[in-house]
Amino acid sequence: MEPVVIDGHTRLCGVIGNPVEHTSSPAIHNTLAQIYGHNLVYVPFKVEDGFIKDAISGAFALNILGLNVTVPYKTDVLECITCIDDMAKRIGAVNTLVRVEDGYKGYNTDILGLKRALLHDGMDLKDKCVVILGAGGAARSAAHIASLMGAKQIYILNRSISKAQVLADEVNKYSDHGLAIALELNQFDRIEADSYVVLQATSVGLAPNENEVIIDNPAFYEKAEYGFDLVYRPAKTKFMKLMEEHGKRTQNGLSMLLYQGIIAYELWNNISVTEEVAAQVYSVLEGTV
Ligand code: ATR
Repeated sequence: MEPVVIDGHTRLCGVIGNPVEHTSSPAIHNTLAQIYGHNLVYVPFKVEDGFIKDAISGAFALNILGLNVTVPYKTDVLECITCIDDMAKRIGAVNTLVRVEDGYKGYNTDILGLKRALLHDGMDLKDKCVVILGAGGAARSAAHIASLMGAKQIYILNRSISKAQVLADEVNKYSDHGLAIALELNQFDRIEADSYVVLQATSVGLAPNENEVIIDNPAFYEKAEYGFDLVYRPAKTKFMKLMEEHGKRTQNGLSMLLYQGIIAYELWNNISVTEEVAAQVYSVLEGTV
């Protein structure tokens, strides 16, 4: 892998957000550029409050090929794009901008990344009962992708049931009546299924609170078939440990981070990244978190 030599042909991509200092995205994209020999460099851009429109029109003026968008601008950016992918429109959040003739097209590769991470791990949600833990931003992606992948039933469990209900209503707008059901965390005994796939989408268990877990009742884990924790710091959360103690397969959110980046890179460069290359990038990414 030769490092990219910056010259007059170098294309620029980057991530806009605030803060951006913690981002692992440069590791993903610059590794991909090296592997494929693309003359492309990816950098972080910290954008201060109130400057998002200027940042995007400036990026277009500077011939920037593509941008990722992170907190807090994933919805603000909707006003700054010229067109939007259907999935991003449905979820109302954009994390990737792809340069088109008259501006940028918005995509949501977070949600597509979760799908690809699940499929890569052999977990197709079609006809599955899916339990989403949480009802915040991450849980929204999880609930919508479960619906789009053809889950048979979706249960959204959250500390505040009103937020779970809002998310269930939102998912049900796009699917058969009653696909998503809201419950409180301790109501998991109401789940009407012999087994279920769990997508852990709360911030509970995130470093440094590594000993915390959203549900600790063993009965919940007995019926679970597989557990995906959207958290990736620590690499093995307490949720994953409890699942594994019950003999269940788990995966953390690093593969979702990987694939959201890979899908963005594919869109910018009009290529398909192979699984072999994805594995190479994954090992680089593991070293950054
Ligand atoms: P993100 O964008 O990462 O999803 P978020 O939108 O703030 O972050 O959502 C955090 C999720 O973790 C919510 O579902 C939150 O539950 P509430 O909606 O009831 O606040 C959940 N969460 C965070 N801390 C929690 C805790 N100590 N106990 C239970 N749930 C918690």
